[in-house]
Amino acid sequence: MKILITGPHGMLGTDIINLLRKEAASSTHNKDLKVIEAPHEELDITLEDEVSNFISRHTPDIIINCAAYTNVDKCETEREKAFKVNALGPKYIAAAAKECGARIIHISTDFVFDGNSERPYVEEDQTKPLSEYARTKLEGEKNIQDYCNSFLIVRTSWLFGHHGANFVKKMLELAGHKKELSIVTDETGSPTYTTDLAEALWILIEKGCEGIFHVSNEGYCSRYEWAKYIFETQGYNIKVNPIKSSQYKRPAKVPLNSTLNCQKLTTSTGMRMRPWQEALSAYLNKQ
Ligand SMILES: NC(=O)c1ccc[n+]([C@@H]2O[C@H](COP(=O)([O-])OP(=O)(O)OC[C@H]3O[C@@H](n4cnc5c(N)ncnc54)[C@H](OP(=O)(O)O)[C@@H]3O)[C@@H](O)[C@H]2O)c1
Repeated sequence: MKILITGPHGMLGTDIINLLRKEAASSTHNKDLKVIEAPHEELDITLEDEVSNFISRHTPDIIINCAAYTNVDKCETEREKAFKVNALGPKYIAAAAKECGARIIHISTDFVFDGNSERPYVEEDQTKPLSEYARTKLEGEKNIQDYCNSFLIVRTSWLFGHHGANFVKKMLELAGHKKELSIVTDETGSPTYTTDLAEALWILIEKGCEGIFHVSNEGYCSRYEWAKYIFETQGYNIKVNPIKSSQYKRPAKVPLNSTLNCQKLTTSTGMRMRPWQEALSAYLNKQ
């Protein structure tokens, strides 16, 4: 089985590559697993011909698209780039996947929802993106569904991992030189460890799951609670002031409720994601 990964040097992509390489090395069952990395320097997903040529040359069985333009605030001003990477790229990959009969695994986001729900979002809930990032990611989802026969779209939330910028790293960096911070209390989500997400993706792939799935670590918290938890467990004595999101000005509008219901993952695979606190401890112990 040949698996091609776009964005292999990103935060999630790196963990997927590590997991696949371990799988390929460890089990006799997966001896024939071949991992093809398609880094940005070799494959720009916004170039249709390049995508088509690269994919038809490698004839993968599965394509995992981890490439995206993920700077939510910058997407507000760099709209064309956001559209090309998050919406057009998936379209070109989906069309090329269809051409060579490959399954496509595409990563999407909790931000496709407007955050007004009073419960965690299920896969069938009405989407209503609030930002350019979210609009382009939703367009990417639609293109995957329209241009490819066999797809798995995984929406996830609040990622943290070892190989990219994220909230946990930011908080630890700030804790090194600040005595006091203000963090929002009315933005709620499920922090998700990219190592855990990579494992869930692999299980979904092995089980042949298709359609849309929500995958995040179990439980939820506000940004304020998340920051407090990081500081307390890491022994930082830092004053955290609770503020409302309306007091924290940023270019992009983000959903207040970002929580995802992951029951479908459990029902379809038997897998349950561990609580975010456990995942965070595992991440911090590995730092
Ligand atoms: N981070 C989060 O909190 C979060 C939350 C929910 C969902 N997601 C989704 O999860 C997925 C993975 O996120 P992540 O945080 O791991 O992303 P990331 O670290 O920003 O990695 C994205 C990768 O995409 C590559 N890329 C960008 N433009 C490209 C292009 N035109 N052609 C080819 N490659 C390109 C980047 O390479 P260069 O750096 O070389 O450009 C980078 O390696 C994304 O789909 C994202 O939307 C993320």
